[in-house]
Amino acid sequence: MKKKVIIDCDPGIDDAVALLLALGSAELEIVAITAAGGNIAPEVGFKNICRILEHLQHKKWPPLGQGLPAAAQIPGAQEIHGSDGLGNSHLPLTKTPAPRSAPELIIKTIERNPGQISIIATAPLTNIAGALRLKASVAEEIEDLVIMGGAIEVAGNVSPRAEFNIFMNPQAAREVFLSGAKITLLPLDVTQKVIFTPEHLERIRQSEGPAAALLSRIIPHSFKTHAQFEGIRGCYLHDALAVAARVRPSLFKTRRLFVDVETRGELTRGMTVADLRHRSRTQPNMDVVVEVDAEGFLEFLIQRLSLS
Ligand code: BDR
Ligand code: CA
Repeated sequence: MKKKVIIDCDPGIDDAVALLLALGSAELEIVAITAAGGNIAPEVGFKNICRILEHLQHKKWPPLGQGLPAAAQIPGAQEIHGSDGLGNSHLPLTKTPAPRSAPELIIKTIERNPGQISIIATAPLTNIAGALRLKASVAEEIEDLVIMGGAIEVAGNVSPRAEFNIFMNPQAAREVFLSGAKITLLPLDVTQKVIFTPEHLERIRQSEGPAAALLSRIIPHSFKTHAQFEGIRGCYLHDALAVAARVRPSLFKTRRLFVDVETRGELTRGMTVADLRHRSRTQPNMDVVVEVDAEGFLEFLIQRLSLS
């Protein structure tokens, strides 16, 4: 049976790759896609979701939601993702359905499928926390939640200690982490172990399919900014790993940990604080991904995107 998923995202170049991977994975049934504020404003993210579905000529669009802006805004995200969020590709858009409220759509979708929904969150957690504030029991009514976010034992990417998705709305992240939901966290520690190179892109381009065409328009911007800001050849695809964690969990190793979020620190706002002590006094609240089979993931991605 297909796994029913809600994707909450802020496309965003790597969010777009995550969507392509999810849409190209027959194991998943995407029952809703919601846009959160993050890389771009939520209304831009919403339109970018529509642009991607339209580009793929996707037949049956799932219900789409739009949330409120994240608690913070930083101009840096537009440098990384382009002013349109999709690498300045300015993809055309002819059809925009009316957006539904993201938290309400999340709640309704879960109510219709109790115990069966996985949420894949690749953005600040504003919409998920919004749903929990309206109905705390959704934490137990979902099957699980896969979150791309945090930096456990590595430096942050927005500040010395904070990763972007958590930094943008630390209070929301804290509420989600402590909600009792079954969580798998994909932090920078593992997402930065995977580097997608121009050679990988070239292999997908050989297929001449719509996913390849989309990647050719958005990924070169990422190559440029990663060379400039990260000093690497190629780019990270953080959010795509969150989809792979749901579809191919065997590519990852996890560790049970208690992780909380610093919401107010003068220097550490948005830091994910994991209890790594040998004799910790805390009860683990999530599975943290600690290892990835980077080659295996890249092969899996190339294969899936070449067929889409
Ligand atoms: C996260 O930040 C965003 O810019 C990316 O889309 C990803 O979700 C990585 O820190
Ligand atoms: Ca994202």
